[in-house]
Amino acid sequence: MTSNERIIGRENVNDIEQILMITNTDVDAAIHTVKDNADAIFTWDYEKGSRPALNKLYEKAKNSQWNGETDLDWSIDVDQEAVVAANAAANGRGAEMNLAGTFFEKWGDKEWNELGVQSQNWMLSQFMHGEQGALLCTAKIVETVPWIDAKYYASTQVMDEARHVEVFAKYLNEKLSGHYPVNAHLKMLLDDIVLDSRWDMTYLGMQIMVEGLALAAFGFMHQMTTEPLLKQLLRYVMSDEARHVAFGVLSLKEYYQELTQAELRERQEFAFEAAVRMRDRFLQQEVWDRMGVPVKEAVTVIMQDPGQQLFQQMLFAKIVPNCRKLGLLDAGDGWLREKFTELGVIDFEHMPDTEEEYDTFALAEGEVASAR
Ligand SMILES: [Fe+2]
Ligand SMILES: [Fe+2]
Repeated sequence: MTSNERIIGRENVNDIEQILMITNTDVDAAIHTVKDNADAIFTWDYEKGSRPALNKLYEKAKNSQWNGETDLDWSIDVDQEAVVAANAAANGRGAEMNLAGTFFEKWGDKEWNELGVQSQNWMLSQFMHGEQGALLCTAKIVETVPWIDAKYYASTQVMDEARHVEVFAKYLNEKLSGHYPVNAHLKMLLDDIVLDSRWDMTYLGMQIMVEGLALAAFGFMHQMTTEPLLKQLLRYVMSDEARHVAFGVLSLKEYYQELTQAELRERQEFAFEAAVRMRDRFLQQEVWDRMGVPVKEAVTVIMQDPGQQLFQQMLFAKIVPNCRKLGLLDAGDGWLREKFTELGVIDFEHMPDTEEEYDTFALAEGEVASAR
């Protein structure tokens, strides 16, 4: 068996048939149960600040908590179709896509607008589900990480994630026009992260990979949207996410020093698996399905579109430099560097990593009423 088959269940990362075979089968279930397989660890070493960088992050987090109910202006009226049209006018839409010979050729404004609306419902739904993943994972870290400074910090992140789930759910309910169940690839990844018994794997899967991607994706959407409430919401969430990713980088940087080459290889493989799952999810197969168009044809067009390829690569703008910072790109025989090269994202390796970047994302004095 090749390493691709073993890690992601298929030989060719771009095999569309295989990607689409993964679907969410329990879309009507109200809950989903996953074994978290981990030891809860008490520490009797209460020395606060023995890890100064984590302590600084914790102090910062205590003073940075905004309140979604009172700090966001929910009275803003959102006309979703008008927003989709305004976003398309501001940013262009599929202009360079090669649609010849596909069903897209017959599309007019009505279909493109509907796609914009469904994509937004889908995207925000997946953000909400991902935020719940972060809530659960970080609660797990509170239990499993052996360091008091990390337990303290993680507890503030749990509160951050609760607020993130809350604001995305509220935005979906009050301002958009429909929900989507969790995407199958995202769900698979979240399950794998929770299932893993090793405490540092929660960090790698969540803080480095999922949140690294979220930070890039939120940044992109924040820049692109013309809707002021969503813009503000994303601004607040990003100020927290940058800390969360820093938490992952700071913690793993220390812990990876102790690991053997073989153990680091397992981390490289997990990072690759996560990268592929997240890339697959952005093909938004559920949207095509709901719109009643041929899913495979739509996904094929999307995967070959230069604009989409650029967007998918951009999602890795934070992940790759952070993996580099952690030594994961080049550990052993440089296996992860090779894999990120295959995925076409290695060029981001020298972008700023997120260990210190959270300061530049921080909310300014007076930018939000309730954060002091
Ligand atoms: Fe979050
Ligand atoms: Fe987060």
